[in-house]
Amino acid sequence: MKKWPFEIEGIVEVVVTTCDASKGWNVALLGLRGGEIITARTWGRTRTRENFSKGRDAYVHFVRDAVLFVEAALCIKEQKDPHIEGSYAWAKIEAISRGGGRERGTEWEDWDINIREGQIVKEEVPIVNRGHNAIIEATVIASRLRISQNREKDLQKIESLLKIAEKCGNVRDCEAKVLVERLVFQNFEGDKQRKKF
Ligand SMILES: Cc1cc2nc3c(=O)[nH]c(=O)nc-3n(C[C@H](O)[C@H](O)[C@H](O)COP(=O)(O)O)c2cc1C
Repeated sequence: MKKWPFEIEGIVEVVVTTCDASKGWNVALLGLRGGEIITARTWGRTRTRENFSKGRDAYVHFVRDAVLFVEAALCIKEQKDPHIEGSYAWAKIEAISRGGGRERGTEWEDWDINIREGQIVKEEVPIVNRGHNAIIEATVIASRLRISQNREKDLQKIESLLKIAEKCGNVRDCEAKVLVERLVFQNFEGDKQRKKF
Protein backbone atom coordinates (compact mmCIF):
# COMPACT_ATOMS: atom_id res chain seq x y z
CA MET A 1 0.00 0.00 0.00
CA LYS A 2 1.35 3.44 -0.96
CA LYS A 3 2.04 5.84 1.93
CA TRP A 4 0.47 9.29 2.16
CA PRO A 5 3.13 12.02 1.87
CA PHE A 6 1.87 13.69 5.10
CA GLU A 7 0.11 12.74 8.34
CA ILE A 8 -3.66 12.50 8.38
CA GLU A 9 -4.74 12.64 12.03
CA GLY A 10 -8.25 12.86 13.46
CA ILE A 11 -10.72 13.82 10.74
CA VAL A 12 -9.36 16.01 7.95
CA GLU A 13 -11.90 17.75 5.70
CA VAL A 14 -10.95 17.60 2.03
CA VAL A 15 -12.57 18.52 -1.25
CA VAL A 16 -13.22 15.36 -3.27
CA THR A 17 -13.68 15.31 -7.04
CA THR A 18 -15.19 12.19 -8.64
CA CYS A 19 -15.79 11.57 -12.32
CA ASP A 20 -19.00 10.63 -14.04
CA ALA A 21 -18.26 10.68 -17.77
CA SER A 22 -21.69 12.07 -18.68
CA LYS A 23 -21.69 14.88 -16.08
CA GLY A 24 -18.02 15.69 -15.56
CA TRP A 25 -16.28 16.02 -12.22
CA ASN A 26 -18.47 16.33 -9.14
CA VAL A 27 -17.07 18.46 -6.31
CA ALA A 28 -18.04 17.68 -2.68
CA LEU A 29 -16.63 17.60 0.85
CA LEU A 30 -15.38 14.48 2.58
CA GLY A 31 -13.88 13.82 5.99
CA LEU A 32 -10.78 11.61 5.87
CA ARG A 33 -10.26 9.65 9.09
CA GLY A 34 -6.69 9.08 10.14
CA GLY A 35 -5.37 5.67 11.20
CA GLU A 36 -3.23 2.90 9.82
CA ILE A 37 -5.59 2.89 6.85
CA ILE A 38 -7.25 6.18 5.86
CA THR A 39 -11.04 5.81 5.74
CA ALA A 40 -14.10 7.92 4.94
CA ARG A 41 -17.84 7.58 5.51
CA THR A 42 -20.38 8.72 2.92
CA TRP A 43 -23.86 9.65 4.14
CA GLY A 44 -26.89 9.14 1.93
CA ARG A 45 -27.10 8.41 -1.78
CA THR A 46 -24.75 11.13 -2.90
CA ARG A 47 -22.93 11.54 -6.21
CA THR A 48 -19.65 10.89 -4.42
CA ARG A 49 -20.91 7.59 -3.07
CA GLU A 50 -22.23 6.55 -6.46
CA ASN A 51 -18.96 7.38 -8.20
CA PHE A 52 -16.95 5.59 -5.48
CA SER A 53 -19.11 2.48 -5.79
CA LYS A 54 -18.67 2.40 -9.55
CA GLY A 55 -14.89 2.62 -9.14
CA ARG A 56 -14.71 5.90 -11.04
CA ASP A 57 -11.66 8.17 -10.91
CA ALA A 58 -11.40 10.27 -7.75
CA TYR A 59 -9.08 12.89 -6.27
CA VAL A 60 -8.90 14.60 -2.90
CA HIS A 61 -7.61 18.15 -2.44
CA PHE A 62 -6.29 19.86 0.66
CA VAL A 63 -7.63 23.40 0.48
CA ARG A 64 -8.48 26.34 2.74
CA ASP A 65 -10.84 28.46 0.71
CA ALA A 66 -14.10 29.05 2.63
CA VAL A 67 -16.21 29.86 -0.44
CA LEU A 68 -15.13 26.60 -2.08
CA PHE A 69 -16.07 24.68 1.09
CA VAL A 70 -19.55 26.19 1.09
CA GLU A 71 -20.08 25.58 -2.64
CA ALA A 72 -18.80 21.99 -2.43
CA ALA A 73 -21.04 21.18 0.53
CA LEU A 74 -24.23 23.05 -0.26
CA CYS A 75 -24.33 23.44 -4.06
CA ILE A 76 -24.29 20.98 -6.94
CA LYS A 77 -20.86 21.76 -8.28
CA GLU A 78 -19.58 20.13 -11.46
CA GLN A 79 -16.53 20.98 -13.52
CA LYS A 80 -14.62 19.78 -16.56
CA ASP A 81 -11.43 18.65 -14.85
CA PRO A 82 -10.51 17.13 -11.49
CA HIS A 83 -8.13 19.88 -10.44
CA ILE A 84 -9.05 22.33 -7.66
CA GLU A 85 -7.24 25.64 -7.99
CA GLY A 86 -5.35 26.78 -4.92
CA SER A 87 -4.89 23.28 -3.47
CA TYR A 88 -1.97 22.91 -1.07
CA ALA A 89 -1.79 19.21 -1.90
CA TRP A 90 -3.78 16.65 -3.87
CA ALA A 91 -3.98 12.88 -4.18
CA LYS A 92 -5.48 10.52 -6.70
CA ILE A 93 -7.36 7.95 -4.64
CA GLU A 94 -9.05 4.60 -4.83
CA ALA A 95 -12.09 4.03 -2.59
CA ILE A 96 -12.79 0.45 -1.52
CA SER A 97 -16.09 -0.28 0.23
CA ARG A 98 -15.94 -1.72 3.75
CA GLY A 99 -19.73 -2.07 3.94
CA GLY A 100 -22.43 0.16 5.33
CA GLY A 101 -25.46 0.55 7.51
CA ARG A 102 -28.27 2.90 8.42
CA GLU A 103 -28.44 5.51 11.19
CA ARG A 104 -31.61 7.49 11.98
CA GLY A 105 -32.97 6.77 8.51
CA THR A 106 -29.80 7.69 6.62
CA GLU A 107 -27.70 5.09 4.83
CA TRP A 108 -23.96 5.27 5.33
CA GLU A 109 -21.06 3.46 3.73
CA ASP A 110 -17.47 3.22 4.89
CA TRP A 111 -14.55 3.32 2.47
CA ASP A 112 -10.85 2.58 2.65
CA ILE A 113 -9.16 5.47 0.90
CA ASN A 114 -5.91 4.39 -0.74
CA ILE A 115 -3.59 6.87 -2.35
CA ARG A 116 -2.47 6.18 -5.94
CA GLU A 117 -0.33 9.25 -6.48
CA GLY A 118 -0.10 12.64 -4.86
CA GLN A 119 1.78 15.87 -4.58
CA ILE A 120 2.36 18.62 -2.05
CA VAL A 121 2.02 21.79 -4.11
CA LYS A 122 2.75 24.50 -1.56
CA GLU A 123 3.48 24.91 2.11
CA GLU A 124 2.29 27.77 4.30
CA VAL A 125 2.59 29.21 7.78
CA PRO A 126 -0.32 27.75 9.78
CA ILE A 127 -2.92 30.44 10.45
CA VAL A 128 -5.54 29.91 13.14
CA ASN A 129 -8.59 31.99 12.36
CA ARG A 130 -11.92 31.62 14.19
CA GLY A 131 -13.76 33.15 11.26
CA HIS A 132 -12.61 30.39 8.91
CA ASN A 133 -13.44 27.68 11.44
CA ALA A 134 -16.86 29.24 12.04
CA ILE A 135 -17.69 28.99 8.32
CA ILE A 136 -16.78 25.30 8.28
CA GLU A 137 -18.97 24.63 11.35
CA ALA A 138 -21.88 26.66 9.93
CA THR A 139 -21.60 24.69 6.68
CA VAL A 140 -21.64 21.35 8.51
CA ILE A 141 -24.85 22.32 10.33
CA ALA A 142 -26.39 23.66 7.09
CA SER A 143 -25.57 20.48 5.17
CA ARG A 144 -27.46 18.46 7.81
CA LEU A 145 -30.52 20.71 8.12
CA ARG A 146 -32.72 18.23 6.25
CA ILE A 147 -32.23 15.66 9.01
CA SER A 148 -32.13 18.20 11.85
CA GLN A 149 -33.90 17.26 15.09
CA ASN A 150 -34.32 20.95 15.97
CA ARG A 151 -34.24 23.17 12.90
CA GLU A 152 -34.83 26.47 14.77
CA LYS A 153 -31.95 25.81 17.16
CA ASP A 154 -29.64 24.84 14.28
CA LEU A 155 -30.57 27.98 12.34
CA GLN A 156 -29.71 30.05 15.43
CA LYS A 157 -26.35 28.27 15.70
CA ILE A 158 -25.63 29.05 12.04
CA GLU A 159 -26.48 32.72 12.66
CA SER A 160 -24.11 33.02 15.59
CA LEU A 161 -21.29 31.24 13.70
CA LEU A 162 -21.79 33.63 10.78
CA LYS A 163 -21.34 36.55 13.20
CA ILE A 164 -17.94 35.11 14.21
CA ALA A 165 -17.04 34.69 10.52
CA GLU A 166 -17.87 38.33 9.87
CA LYS A 167 -15.90 39.53 12.90
CA CYS A 168 -12.76 37.37 12.53
CA GLY A 169 -12.67 36.10 8.96
CA ASN A 170 -10.66 37.18 5.92
CA VAL A 171 -12.22 38.38 2.66
CA ARG A 172 -13.05 34.84 1.42
CA ASP A 173 -14.55 33.91 4.82
CA CYS A 174 -16.80 36.99 4.62
CA GLU A 175 -17.83 36.11 1.05
CA ALA A 176 -18.57 32.56 2.22
CA LYS A 177 -20.67 33.99 5.05
CA VAL A 178 -22.85 35.89 2.56
CA LEU A 179 -23.20 32.72 0.45
CA VAL A 180 -24.29 30.58 3.44
CA GLU A 181 -26.80 33.28 4.39
CA ARG A 182 -28.22 33.28 0.85
CA LEU A 183 -28.40 29.46 0.59
CA VAL A 184 -29.84 28.88 4.05
CA PHE A 185 -32.04 31.86 4.85
CA GLN A 186 -33.37 32.97 1.46
CA ASN A 187 -36.04 31.09 -0.38
CA PHE A 188 -34.16 28.90 -2.82
CA GLU A 189 -37.11 26.78 -3.95
CA GLY A 190 -36.44 25.71 -7.50
CA ASP A 191 -32.74 26.62 -7.44
CA LYS A 192 -31.30 23.61 -9.18
CA GLN A 193 -27.77 24.46 -8.11
CA ARG A 194 -28.57 24.12 -4.40
CA LYS A 195 -28.24 20.67 -2.89
CA LYS A 196 -31.23 19.51 -0.88
CA PHE A 197 -30.46 20.22 2.76
C1 LIG B 1 -17.10 20.07 6.66
C2 LIG B 1 -17.99 19.10 5.93
C3 LIG B 1 -17.62 17.77 5.89
C4 LIG B 1 -18.40 16.83 5.20
N1 LIG B 1 -18.02 15.54 5.21
C5 LIG B 1 -18.77 14.61 4.60
C6 LIG B 1 -18.42 13.23 4.65
O1 LIG B 1 -17.42 12.85 5.25
N2 LIG B 1 -19.23 12.34 4.02
C7 LIG B 1 -20.36 12.73 3.34
O2 LIG B 1 -21.06 11.88 2.78
N3 LIG B 1 -20.73 14.05 3.27
C8 LIG B 1 -19.97 14.98 3.88
N4 LIG B 1 -20.35 16.30 3.84
C9 LIG B 1 -21.52 16.68 3.00
C10 LIG B 1 -21.07 16.71 1.52
O3 LIG B 1 -20.21 17.79 1.27
C11 LIG B 1 -22.19 16.84 0.50
O4 LIG B 1 -23.13 17.76 0.84
C12 LIG B 1 -22.85 15.52 0.26
O5 LIG B 1 -21.92 14.50 0.33
C13 LIG B 1 -23.51 15.43 -1.12
O6 LIG B 1 -22.60 15.65 -2.13
P1 LIG B 1 -22.53 14.94 -3.56
O7 LIG B 1 -23.92 14.49 -3.97
O8 LIG B 1 -22.02 16.07 -4.43
O9 LIG B 1 -21.57 13.83 -3.44
C14 LIG B 1 -19.60 17.25 4.54
C15 LIG B 1 -19.97 18.58 4.59
C16 LIG B 1 -19.19 19.50 5.29
C17 LIG B 1 -19.63 20.92 5.34
